Amino acid sequence: MVTHGSESYFVIGEGLLGESIGGRNGGPPDGAAATAASFSATAASVPPFRFSRMGPNGAGKQLGEPNRKKLGDAMAVPGGGQGQIPAGFTYLGQFIDHDLTFDKTNVMLGANVTPAQLLQARSPSLDLDSLYGAGPGDPASAKFYEADGLHLKTGKSINPTKNGFDLPRGAGNTAAKKRKAIIPDPRNDENLAVAQTHTAMIRFHNRVVDTQLGAVPPAQKFAKAREIVTKHYQWMIRSDYLPRICRPGVVNDVFNNGRKAFEVGATPTDVPTMPIEFSVAGFRLGHSMVRAGYNWNINFDNGDGTLPLLFEFSATGGGLGGETRLLTIWVADFRRLYDFSEANRPNLTVPPGKFNHAMRIDSRIVNPLQHLPPQTIALPNSTPGNDVRRNLAFRNLTRARMVRLATGQQMATFLKNRGVNVTKLTKTQIRDGNGGADLGALTQTQRQAVLRDTPLWFYVLREAELNNGQLKGVGARIVAETLHRAMEGSTHSIVRDTAFAPSLGPNSSTFRMVDLLLFAFEGKKALLNPNG
Ligand code: HEM
Repeated sequence: MVTHGSESYFVIGEGLLGESIGGRNGGPPDGAAATAASFSATAASVPPFRFSRMGPNGAGKQLGEPNRKKLGDAMAVPGGGQGQIPAGFTYLGQFIDHDLTFDKTNVMLGANVTPAQLLQARSPSLDLDSLYGAGPGDPASAKFYEADGLHLKTGKSINPTKNGFDLPRGAGNTAAKKRKAIIPDPRNDENLAVAQTHTAMIRFHNRVVDTQLGAVPPAQKFAKAREIVTKHYQWMIRSDYLPRICRPGVVNDVFNNGRKAFEVGATPTDVPTMPIEFSVAGFRLGHSMVRAGYNWNINFDNGDGTLPLLFEFSATGGGLGGETRLLTIWVADFRRLYDFSEANRPNLTVPPGKFNHAMRIDSRIVNPLQHLPPQTIALPNSTPGNDVRRNLAFRNLTRARMVRLATGQQMATFLKNRGVNVTKLTKTQIRDGNGGADLGALTQTQRQAVLRDTPLWFYVLREAELNNGQLKGVGARIVAETLHRAMEGSTHSIVRDTAFAPSLGPNSSTFRMVDLLLFAFEGKKALLNPNG
């Protein structure tokens, strides 16, 4: 079963680093370090996903288990409130994460691929392979496509039936098989919000196929559509998503002046790696944006679209409420997740009280994330709700220990030495934050350890909460540099193709998520919100 996190990290130059948080068959017992040998069977058959270390090794600076438990609990106390970012961007972030960390070898037919392709397949890129798999020409990915080999399959929601509003789902003789989404990355069916984001991306691709390929010779149509889709998606990430979550000055500096910390001077087309500082800390910022409840649509209003229900009405995080297709009453109202007044479409807006903002980016996560659905983390369904392995904050902190991740302080020093302008947080700032996690329940010794050797994930979240809910300093730099490199190393790349200008938005320099949705849903209210 595909779950969220990597259970082991192959770090280039270091080999396999691993420690199970529990739940995996055959994994070492909780807390026990895995040896490289315990993963060697996998490592021998296929190249592992390519992680790297951007900064220094944090050996000797990791928090012990009792401290991680206390800190994880402190982070799961609600209170930071909501921020300014529309809630749809939370799940766009999750979709981006899955695109980056997608291991294409899961959907490639081994016999068809060269060693070079295998390497590329296990590398982070922003190529939408979580949408396209290995393409319609690869026998193992053909199932994601219509018979024309151009359109991506769409799904139907039910009662009443509506085409194109659910992920395509399976057939077979059991409910579980029928429910299973036919998409390359099942993680995109882990909750309804990310599943509906994936559904929108399917529509986006199909509409590009329908409207943009007039003069393109048949043999090149798919490749051209994918190029148009991918470059617009990257443009949207660079110009809309990133400056919302990261201080815009940092994003502009990285994209205009280049990287200073990560794979500096790499040959652009070389296969990129994924820094563990991004994967285990920086980009887990999205966990703090998740809300406990959403004004989801007219049927599940006023917070009734709770996070547990969004898990349930997916097929990886739940069981589609016992159905085998999504019920139409659960289809998203995108007007409540993205602000279409940005695109001058006041007729596609909802009253402020109905709109969903993401939670502020800070050192708190909402309570349901303290009790993750066991099946999403490969734990038995009987695992008690208060089992610490179900606390996402504890898991994130434990992963950091497993890979001996650099602390916030180590990364600040490292970045300064690379000429990045960052100001290290003071101990007082780390202790007090700004309305984030309260460290009061930690013992004096535990607190001192946290203030001295601050886990990187916690550090970047404290930086953000002291900056009005936006990453700055260490966090902003790690995220912007990693995404820059992932775009640069992608087959289609707006970093390499500097002449690219978007053609599907209002003008040749603008393409935001609202523009993507307007294009995908034909600008129609009845499609952006079919429930009325
Ligand atoms: C309801 C929403 C979400 C849930 C339930 C969730 C859950 C998880 C879980 C269980 C893990 C693995 C933890 C571990 O054992 O190491 C994980 C990893 C991760 N998550 Fe999330 N997550 C959510 C949203 C997000 C968002 C919005 C982002 C970013 C914007 C994000 C970024 C990441 C990253 C970067 C990782 C590590 C890399 C990976 O394996 O994908 N997640 N998440």
